[in-house]
Amino acid sequence: MEDILQTLHQHTCSWLKGNITMYKYQNFWTTKHLIEGGILAQQNFKAEPSDVFLCSPPKTGTTWLKSLAFAIVTREKFDESTSPLLTKLVHECVPFLERQVAEIVAQRPNSGLPLIATHLPYSSLPESVAASNCKIVYIYRNAKDAIVSDYHFRREALKLDMEDAPFEGAVEEFCEGFSSYGPYWDHILGYWKASLERPERILFLKYEDLKRDPASNVKRLAEFIGHPFSDDEEKVGVVDNIVSLCSFENLSNLEVNKTGKPKGGTLENRLYYRKGKDGDWKNHFTDEMKERIDKLMDEKLSGTGLVLK
Ligand code: A3P
Repeated sequence: MEDILQTLHQHTCSWLKGNITMYKYQNFWTTKHLIEGGILAQQNFKAEPSDVFLCSPPKTGTTWLKSLAFAIVTREKFDESTSPLLTKLVHECVPFLERQVAEIVAQRPNSGLPLIATHLPYSSLPESVAASNCKIVYIYRNAKDAIVSDYHFRREALKLDMEDAPFEGAVEEFCEGFSSYGPYWDHILGYWKASLERPERILFLKYEDLKRDPASNVKRLAEFIGHPFSDDEEKVGVVDNIVSLCSFENLSNLEVNKTGKPKGGTLENRLYYRKGKDGDWKNHFTDEMKERIDKLMDEKLSGTGLVLK
């Protein structure tokens, strides 16, 4: 492992006062620990056809997607008053491939939960993911809100004030491709192209669409992952109950998500719940920054059918 890591290009995030070094592995950037996890997953993880991968670039709605998918697949066991989501951070309910590969492999085939989350780009997923033909749900978000969300997440994780972590620096680095698991556009395009080739296996969800119409998107998600709602369930309000259980307002106000810390982790749970809004970028971007990101996204995504403003 060390041999591989020593050959990789490195980049130190200057806007974070040099506190984070990222490595470039298979054309994406992330921290050493996550690259090690990705390599271990590539080497040891064998996907099953019944697995459901929840994939995303960081800060685009992973926590929300994991909560919804977990509530959907466990709804016969738990309801909105007994769900583990009320007492545990969702990242302890749905495993994250790069951090928990050994645990995931050890628990197979009887974990009872088909869900596995990852930030790995499509081309870096373990080969068995495509070979097994298992399902993939991908969530993404407009680039400007993803930048703002990532900026506050990393800044707060390092306990830096805004004066010590200039936002312009985060925008600059994003444009150069140095976002976590970035370049951002490559991450999205990798999954987008795969979804065009295998639309029945890869569902694309957009954070903004989920915000605008959660119930229809929750139904799409449930159907896609093989747990569709029956007419009776819809009539008695099961879809609405899952939407309310997993709403930002509900989850962010739970004690576990306000004051908890995951077992063995250093990050506080509250960092996964900041504002939960579409459009907070308007409070951070100058006109010039907005134009720069919009132009960049137009250039990178032109002709693909994807719109990311
Ligand atoms: P903001 O920083 O814009 O508030 P990820 O889960 O991929 O790390 O993404 C985090 C973003 O999703 C944060 O966005 C967070 O507030 C938001 N989020 C977390 N849970 C959510 C929920 N249940 N509903 C809507 N947004 C949610």
